[in-house]
Amino acid sequence: MENIVGLCKRRGFIFQSSEIYGGYNGFYDYGPLGVELRNNIKQAWWRDMVQRRDDIEGLDSTIIMHPKIWEASGHVAGFSDPMVDCKESKKRYRADQLFFAPVTVDGQTIGYVSVVECIDQQEIAEKAAAEMKRKMAKQGELGPIVLKDYTESKPEEHALVPSPATGKPGSLTEPREFKLMFETKVGPLADDSATAYLRPETAQGIFVNYKNIVDTGRVKIPFGIAQIGKAFRNEITPRNFIFRSREFEQMEIEYFIAPSADWKALHREWIDTCTDWLVSIGLDRNGITEDIHPQDKLAFYSQATTDLMYQFPHGEQELWGIACRGDYDLKQHQEHSGKSMTIFDEATKEKFVPHVIEPSLGVDRTLLAVLTAAYTEDEVPNDKGKVEKRVLLKFSPKIAPVKVAIFPLLKNKPELVERATALYKRLQRRWNVFYDASGAIGRRYRRQDEIGTPFGVTIDFDTIEKDGTVTLRDRDTCEQRRVTEDELIKYLEEQIDA
Ligand code: GAP
Repeated sequence: MENIVGLCKRRGFIFQSSEIYGGYNGFYDYGPLGVELRNNIKQAWWRDMVQRRDDIEGLDSTIIMHPKIWEASGHVAGFSDPMVDCKESKKRYRADQLFFAPVTVDGQTIGYVSVVECIDQQEIAEKAAAEMKRKMAKQGELGPIVLKDYTESKPEEHALVPSPATGKPGSLTEPREFKLMFETKVGPLADDSATAYLRPETAQGIFVNYKNIVDTGRVKIPFGIAQIGKAFRNEITPRNFIFRSREFEQMEIEYFIAPSADWKALHREWIDTCTDWLVSIGLDRNGITEDIHPQDKLAFYSQATTDLMYQFPHGEQELWGIACRGDYDLKQHQEHSGKSMTIFDEATKEKFVPHVIEPSLGVDRTLLAVLTAAYTEDEVPNDKGKVEKRVLLKFSPKIAPVKVAIFPLLKNKPELVERATALYKRLQRRWNVFYDASGAIGRRYRRQDEIGTPFGVTIDFDTIEKDGTVTLRDRDTCEQRRVTEDELIKYLEEQIDA
């Protein structure tokens, strides 16, 4: 993670928000390359999920919506995380991310250890337990450390579990619910009637517009509505870079189906479609696993949820949630708004409130997954044939921020520069292309490798004096071959626009 964060800052992908004021926890800004990568991910999703499908329509609803929407959806009452405070350090933890265990020696409890959720939490807790036994000079066999999260703690344990901040017991509070929606005021009055919320998901914008889209007559069941947009959650512990932030973006689909449809089969179809899409933008299929939520851990609206998990630098974590929400949301809005949410199915001549399957993906989390998959260190020969370490980002050409770099071999030869500039201008009409004339050619390649530019094109004397061909270099293999400009454009089209 450190390598990725460092590279993102150094090369202008991602910056901590408000950095000159010391940063603002849970907020990130995207620099020149980050914004390209982010836009490319969103465009690829939109193209594959909306434009290339006949059964999905797009939508762009507002971030602030009528506050009654969030009452109807259940968010005002139920959208919260369990929180625990350390009274001494004033640190705040999500109770379900704070793990603890009793330490036993010959079956006798000698104290408790605690650890904040992380990839090696078991190891850390075991080390702390061994250290406790040593410090207390206890003889005998240390029992196994079985970690539980703090939401599973019993009241009598609260005074015994040490705070991860101080290492001492007695300062942790009872877990209590912390509301995640950001509040704001709308209009000139600052009383309670003006309270509104920044949306914590884009989904509700889809549900409340569902009737509008049905009434435009473009859709028949089953069909989906897709939306990309910002969402906000006052996360208790934003962490792991852009993985969990307070302002982020979602790409969500509500896929409306008949109540009699085989929702389990359709759920499976969506899980496969989503997995294939992640592979299409460069994630390794073997790195994607499925986490089926047990019935007793389902979100308040869900009949079934499967998360696509990805191996992030900080461990295997949720990337894409695919939930079957039944008719919960539409029925809630029907009840609270008094407006009918039924649809007439021409095929079966039935009228009903549809059920939904909801694939919900975070843009920022996808970007972190893509960066994780792309980050590579290898060794290649430099200009003089000496093998050197290289850092590269193996982005799929479809989402790479810069698609092609154009290099005139020498910057002081006008005929090379003129030809290279002409090609640069030609390619720039279609793609984000970079022109670089300064420094040794090997160093120019390396700069592009580090930002993940898949193709490098060099204009040399053969280009202008012989056959007009250019050298096309592949980022991953470093292989070079000569192609004509038309061959180059055809190849780039296949690789980038597929
Ligand atoms: N409409 C359903 C919904 O919002 P969710 O599991 O809470 O479900 C869906 O969120 C996706 O949004 C997650 O799988 C994740 O990719 C992304 N996401 C959620 N909270 C996030 C956060 N705080 N920071 C970044 N991405 C987040």
